[in-house]
Amino acid sequence: MAAIIFLLSMAVGVVTSQPSPPPSGNCHIPAIYNFGDSNSDTGGIAAAFYPPGPPCGETFFKRPVGRASDGRLIIDFIAEKLGLLYLSAYLDSIKANYTHGANFATGGATIKRVNESWFANGVSPFSLDVQVEHFNQFKDKTTYLYNQAKEESQRSNLPKPDDFVKAIYTIDIGQNDIAYAFRTLGVEASRVVIPDLVNQFVSCVQQLYGKGARAFWIHNTGPIGCLPVIYAKNLDPPPGSLDEVGCAKDQNAIAIEFNKQLRAKVIQLRSDLPKAILIYVDMYSAKYELISNAKDLGFKQWFTICCGYHDVDEDVYCGNRGKINGSEVFADSCKDPTKVISWDGVHYSDAANNWIATKITKGLFSDPSLSITELCPKHVSIM
Ligand SMILES: *[C@@H]1O[C@H](CO)[C@@H](O)[C@H](O)[C@H]1NC(C)=O
Ligand SMILES: *[C@@H]1O[C@H](CO)[C@@H](O)[C@H](O)[C@H]1NC(C)=O
Ligand SMILES: *[C@@H]1O[C@H](CO)[C@@H](O)[C@H](O)[C@H]1NC(C)=O
Repeated sequence: MAAIIFLLSMAVGVVTSQPSPPPSGNCHIPAIYNFGDSNSDTGGIAAAFYPPGPPCGETFFKRPVGRASDGRLIIDFIAEKLGLLYLSAYLDSIKANYTHGANFATGGATIKRVNESWFANGVSPFSLDVQVEHFNQFKDKTTYLYNQAKEESQRSNLPKPDDFVKAIYTIDIGQNDIAYAFRTLGVEASRVVIPDLVNQFVSCVQQLYGKGARAFWIHNTGPIGCLPVIYAKNLDPPPGSLDEVGCAKDQNAIAIEFNKQLRAKVIQLRSDLPKAILIYVDMYSAKYELISNAKDLGFKQWFTICCGYHDVDEDVYCGNRGKINGSEVFADSCKDPTKVISWDGVHYSDAANNWIATKITKGLFSDPSLSITELCPKHVSIM
C-alpha cells in the first residue's frame, strides 16, 4: 500500500486578498470554525512543523501559504461564498486574524489518536479531540480578552463572543484514519475500526455543541481508492480490483462504509442535539463525479499528477528533490495546473476544489439540500 496521505506543504502565511462582499438575502454567518486534516488545513501543520516550499500555492497565492495545493482549498471557497476572509490557522501566531473564525485543521490529522508520529509517518499529533480542545481554549481565552479590552483596537483580531453561536462549524476528517487502518490492518480488516471512528467523531460534535456550536457542516470522506498515488503504484492490478473509472474498489468500499455509518450518526444527532442544525455533505459523491467526468469537465485524466513523481517503489513528492529511475529530479509543477484534478497525487488542485466547492456550497450534495448561505443556526441561547 502506498504510504499515504499528508504531505503538508506550506509556509507561514497570512492571506491578504479580500473576498467579495457577503451575499445578500440570507442570514449573516459571521464566522467559520473548521476542524480536519490536510483537505482543509490553511497553515496549521506548516506553522507547527516544516513548511514545504514552492511550487505549492503558485496558481492562486503566488507563494506557499500553508496549503497542500497549488491554490485554494474547499474551505477557502466556502469562506469566499460567505463573504469572509480566509481562515487563519489556530497554530499560526504570525498576523493571524480571528475576527471571522479560526482553523483547527492540521495536515495528517486523524479522528482517533494513533500510534505513529509526524516524523515517521506524517501523522499529525493534533487529532480531532485535540483540535476540539484547542477550540475550547480559543473560545475561553478570546472571550476573556475581548471582554477585558479597554478599547476597540485591542479587539481587532478577536472574534466577538456573541458570534460563536451564530458561526458555522465545518468538519472534514477521516481519510487518514482509513489510511492508517489500511497500513496496520490491511484493507479488508479495516472495517472493524469504523464504528469506533464514527463514535469518536460524534463525541467531538457533541463536545462542540456543549461549547455552544449550533450549525454543523459535516463533510464525509472522499474516495480514497481514487488517489492518484495509489493508482501510480498499482501497475498490475488483480482482475476486477478496479472500478469502471480505474479506482481501487476495496479501498473505496471502506470509505463508503465509513460514510454510511457517519450519515446514520448525523441523523441520530439531529434528535440528540435539538438546538443544532446538522448538514451532511456527500463529499465522496462530489469528488467521484468530478473524477468520473474529468474529460467532459475540461480536465486531464483523473490520475494525472501535476506535481510529484511516483512509481511502484519510488516517490518524489511535490516540492522535493530525489531520484527516479536513476536520475536526480526536482518535483515541480506541471505546465497547466488548472487542467488537473490532482495537485500532488493526494490533494486536489485549486481548479478541482473550485468545481467541488461550487457544487457543495449550493447544497447539491447535502442532506438536507441547503445552500451554505442559508445555514442559519436556530437562534438560541447557549445551553
Ligand atoms: C502503541 O505502541 C505501544 C508501544 O509500541 C504499544 O504498547 C501499544 O499497544 C500501542 N497501542 C496501540 C493502540 O496500538
Ligand atoms: C481582521 O479582519 C477583519 C475583517 O474580518 C478586519 O475588519 C480587521 O481590521 C482585521 N484585523 C486586523 C488586525 O487586521
Ligand atoms: C521510470 O521508468 C519506467 C520505464 O521507462 C517508466 O515506466 C516509469 O514511468 C518511470 N517512472 C517515473 C516516475 O517517471
